[in-house]
Amino acid sequence: MHHNHFAAVCVVIAVMGLGAKGATAQDTVKIGLVMPMTGTVGAAGQEVVAAVKLYMAQHGDMVAGKKIELIIRDDGSIPDNAKRLAQEFVVNDHVAILGAGTTPSAMSMAPIATEGKVPTVVMISGTSVVTERSPYYVRTSFTLGQQSGIIADWAIQNGSKKAVMILSDWAPGAEAGKVFAANFTKGGGQVLDTLKVPLANPDFSPFLQRAHDLAPDTLFVFVPAGQAGTFARQFSERGLDKSGIKLIGPGDIVDDDDLPTTGDTLLGVVTAGIYSAAHPSQLNKDYAAAYKKATGHRANFISVSGYDGMNLIYQALKATNGNTDADTVIGAMKGMKWESPRGPISIDPRTRDIVQNIYIRKVEKVGGEPWAIEFETFPAVKDPLKEAAK
Ligand code: PHB
Repeated sequence: MHHNHFAAVCVVIAVMGLGAKGATAQDTVKIGLVMPMTGTVGAAGQEVVAAVKLYMAQHGDMVAGKKIELIIRDDGSIPDNAKRLAQEFVVNDHVAILGAGTTPSAMSMAPIATEGKVPTVVMISGTSVVTERSPYYVRTSFTLGQQSGIIADWAIQNGSKKAVMILSDWAPGAEAGKVFAANFTKGGGQVLDTLKVPLANPDFSPFLQRAHDLAPDTLFVFVPAGQAGTFARQFSERGLDKSGIKLIGPGDIVDDDDLPTTGDTLLGVVTAGIYSAAHPSQLNKDYAAAYKKATGHRANFISVSGYDGMNLIYQALKATNGNTDADTVIGAMKGMKWESPRGPISIDPRTRDIVQNIYIRKVEKVGGEPWAIEFETFPAVKDPLKEAAK
């Protein structure tokens, strides 16, 4: 009698406990994003997070019967912070999925993803090697090689013979320069000099002066997201927009987040990029309008990398019916294909890297503002450095 009463009370307490907690741990999937919300590439982290939140606002927070809980931590653009934050996510918060940002941070987080067996979606990094650092890494951003090889070939076909490179001095800049120079010299061109600009608080003026003095016909430039506005201002202050030297690069130098503030400076600049806010599809028109409404900014190539990263996570959880086992989730992500605001994309099942169209675009004024207008498409481009190493 006494025992039965005790058991009944226990059941009541257990049920109350469940009710009070709402969804149980098994019903919740925690996603931990380690992003640069401040620091040298703070603009990029903010763009990813804005797009991820937009995706969740549009698609809800329930997938395959699980509640999605998003947690965001700022690494301040410092890789040691990224590693510590990823460790806390895995050990304390028990996140099922991680999101990684820039190359140095993604590199430092890789051992945590591997040892903790946590599927990790890379949403900013553009260097080839990152996806090789963990079998649980999958990328929805881009590689600088994908864009830089194609713009080198385009420049050669359009008469460029002598180029100077101005590169932001860190891993993605080195990779942009390496792939550009390889294709440009293979096509018979010559790289006169490589000028490396510090990543933090860059002053491009002395490098632009030096480039001008070398009298190339072409200037190949890589600056990361958030620096195109400063670059454009100093480019015009030095008179380079009137010098007759052709400015080309990967899409980063005509970042849609900065383009509206660049006036006439970048008109005519040709780039090879993954995304333009002017991409003429209905899906993109809807995306760019929703992003603008939510943030007040024009959608850019970093935002779309975050938006697609969240879609990859949702589609993978649907495919696994909510199972978050790392190998099962990665297995579901491999080979996944979908229509992005940037165009058709897929995850290469061999490399876990993104396969996407690269567009050649020219900056033109439409409705009083500069836009990167696509005029040629290279479909389903893989990371050329991984293809070369096959
Ligand atoms: C990178 O972290 O590799 C990165 C960041 C910003 C860019 C491009 C690449 O615009």
